[in-house]
Amino acid sequence: MQITFASSKDTATRLVARIIARDSFPADLPAHVREGAEAARFAGKAGQVFETWYEEGGRLVRLALAGCGNGNGEALAGHAGTERAGAALAAKYLTSGESALVLDLTGSGLTAEQTAGALVGLSLRSWRWDAYRTKLKDEQKRSLDKVIVIGAPDGAEAAWDVEAAVVKGVEFTRELVTEPANILYPESFVARARERFAGTGVAIEVLGEDEMRELGMGALLGVSQGSVRKPQLLVMKWLGGKPDDKPALLVGKGVTFDTGGISLKPPAGMEDMKWDMGGAGAVTGAMLAIAGRKAKANVIGVCGLVENMPDGNAQRPGDVVTTMSGQTVEVINTDAEGRLVLCDAMTWAQGQFAPDVMVELSTLTGAMMIALGSEHGGLFSNSDALADQLLAAGKDSGDKLWRFPLSPAYDKLIDSPIADMKNVGPRYAGSITAAQFLQRFVNEGVDWAHLDIAGMVWADKPGATWDKGATGYGVRLLDRFVRETREG
Ligand code: BES
Ligand code: MN
Ligand code: ZN
Repeated sequence: MQITFASSKDTATRLVARIIARDSFPADLPAHVREGAEAARFAGKAGQVFETWYEEGGRLVRLALAGCGNGNGEALAGHAGTERAGAALAAKYLTSGESALVLDLTGSGLTAEQTAGALVGLSLRSWRWDAYRTKLKDEQKRSLDKVIVIGAPDGAEAAWDVEAAVVKGVEFTRELVTEPANILYPESFVARARERFAGTGVAIEVLGEDEMRELGMGALLGVSQGSVRKPQLLVMKWLGGKPDDKPALLVGKGVTFDTGGISLKPPAGMEDMKWDMGGAGAVTGAMLAIAGRKAKANVIGVCGLVENMPDGNAQRPGDVVTTMSGQTVEVINTDAEGRLVLCDAMTWAQGQFAPDVMVELSTLTGAMMIALGSEHGGLFSNSDALADQLLAAGKDSGDKLWRFPLSPAYDKLIDSPIADMKNVGPRYAGSITAAQFLQRFVNEGVDWAHLDIAGMVWADKPGATWDKGATGYGVRLLDRFVRETREG
């Protein structure tokens, strides 16, 4: 979406939108518009849209009123309400035939932050990936690609500049998550990141298979050995903070396709496993957002990229692998591969960058979807302070989290008779035992959080700021977390 700010109405654009708070029609609204809106039960609820056409000075106006709520249990506060309003406008007009929309904020009383929120909603909800759709009918094609804001409050453009960088990050994540696994595999993931980070100030470093073997990453390599795709460890460095501030480390699970390996998954729904790199996607998009808005913080993103396939060289259930940390793992189930990839990525990155905080994101367990559905990501942490910061960033960004427990009793469940641990526990508490596994690879003194985002990466139905498909979950969360805790 191309967004511009202008000082006065350009009369060439037919579609005009105004944002209306709950039960508060502006005084200058033509009487017939207000009457029509009330008759249609439009009350300015967040996400409600009312449309009417009328003639004014010899030209036809297509006027849309978009509700932003009242903040009382309904989103007006901050940017949330206007974001819903902007998103509702995008959903309604994306394929409407209109190519431009004037967002008229004259006299609206919106703050700069709320204005930016509306534009975030408009941009995010209009993202789609039509790269492989060659036979779209005209009426299925996107038409709206331009928004002209008039009457914006002071500071709105500057506020939008910051949020626009975050939107770019979310969009990049959605792109990575959407791409199928024949197109996006470890090496092509890295190539696309290199392309996108050119000129952003993010330094990219990549470890290949040989380097990982020398480092002793036996767990990560065990997962990738059944695939012809070569594994990659992608490192993205943004050093916008003070030189001796410790970095925040973000780690992502990047299984570009998860067949389950020899513990093969059933066919129904297996295509979903193209988005088993959603954690890596979120970390990569967050790095683009953070760099794009020139965050005053040191942040390092590390993605473990592999494909989990079952060929003649694939690892077997019962195999014992040695992780880079020296700890050994009995691989009971080759489908519990995410933790095997992450443990080596975490060990290497902590050794390399000495972070004080490590936040790891992964589509780790189906059990997380059973527990939380698609409303919250699961949060596990060894630090109450870090957990609270992430919960707060979740609320503020809309990428919500819910905390789960960790304890020695759960940890015991993954002890193995032949190795230091096994890669799965018993049937119950599957998300927690997965987190316990990861905790065994957290260094002393590091505040760590594991976010199991299995239910959040992909949506079966449209949400407020996304269509069906990739949501971009995690980018805004991580961006908020960095803003609120690392840039003080
Ligand atoms: N990538 C899956 C988890 C997953 C499943 C994410 C469905 C999103 C949707 C993960 O690698 C996996 O297969 N986990 C297993 C673990 C089990 C073998 C202990 C699972 O959840 O079934
Ligand atoms: Mn798996
Ligand atoms: Zn997986």
